[in-house]
Amino acid sequence: MIETERKRQTLEAADFPRPPHTRIITVTNQKGGVGKTTTSVNVAAALASRGANVLVIDADPQGNASTALGIPHHAGTPSIYDVLLDDEPLSKVAQRCPDIKTLWCVPATIDLAGADIELVSVVRREFRLDTAIKELLEGAGRNLDYIIIDCPPSLGLLTLNAMVVSTEVMIPIQCEYYALEGLTQLIKTVEMVKKHLNPGIHVSTIVLTMYDARTNLAREVASEVRTHFPEQTLEQTIPRSVRVSEAPSFGQTVMTYDAHSTGAVAYLAVAKDIAERGLAKATQGGQS
Ligand SMILES: Nc1ncnc2c1ncn2[C@@H]1O[C@H](COP(=O)(O)OP(=O)(O)O)[C@@H](O)[C@H]1O
Ligand SMILES: [Mg+2]
Repeated sequence: MIETERKRQTLEAADFPRPPHTRIITVTNQKGGVGKTTTSVNVAAALASRGANVLVIDADPQGNASTALGIPHHAGTPSIYDVLLDDEPLSKVAQRCPDIKTLWCVPATIDLAGADIELVSVVRREFRLDTAIKELLEGAGRNLDYIIIDCPPSLGLLTLNAMVVSTEVMIPIQCEYYALEGLTQLIKTVEMVKKHLNPGIHVSTIVLTMYDARTNLAREVASEVRTHFPEQTLEQTIPRSVRVSEAPSFGQTVMTYDAHSTGAVAYLAVAKDIAERGLAKATQGGQS
């Protein structure tokens, strides 16, 4: 615990560089329960708690990200559904997170459950979110540093809409059996999007979640992921932590629920890595 606290203090004192342009990050993995939502909301909260302006877009009909950020999302609440299907501007449906003043959320309601099918017959069906985000960034959202999109556990039109507007894909991987199964399909989808819909996209980050260093299996999976994706996989892993799983039932992220817990400190470290990597990339891009 002393070590965790020391690490937290170092991170609290560290600089979290803000990006020169809004970074749009899709958080995806077609497997359920691997930590997509937990990673989306906690990385967002960590970045926002260090001064960044962050918008989380909840693109999963379950609405778990909305819950974790303390945002009402009962049926009928203006939500991402209205943006995708009825051209409602994002700025009209975004709500400010009660705990962190630079954090916003576009909620998802159960209405979104039909959207993957309803979108099929809509014009420019893969570009609905792209259009909405571009409009947002020209207006009320011009000072956003990050837009983080929490995807459902599928590679349907909702996930495709997220990928079309993102430059970065972040993949949470739970270190258990079958962790890599499905990853090939996911990478193929990103490649397909890159080729046909959005040349700017790339897998930027892989986060190992619910990691238990005491088990051989977790260590083996982690090492296999690092072998395949040495550049993308973050050194910092997220440990299994009761505080992380408790936080959503209080409508909070672990960053405000228990900032001193191992889970919160791990997510703060992940957020710092993400902030720094993005900056390194932006600088490299500027030089070339
Ligand atoms: N680091 C963690 N420690 C403990 N429980 C976790 C952790 N990360 C996620 N969980 C729990 O695992 C479940 C699945 O996580 P979630 O983020 O909802 O996954 P996904 O969005 O990929 O379906 C949730 O109940 C969540 O609270
Ligand atoms: Mg989820």
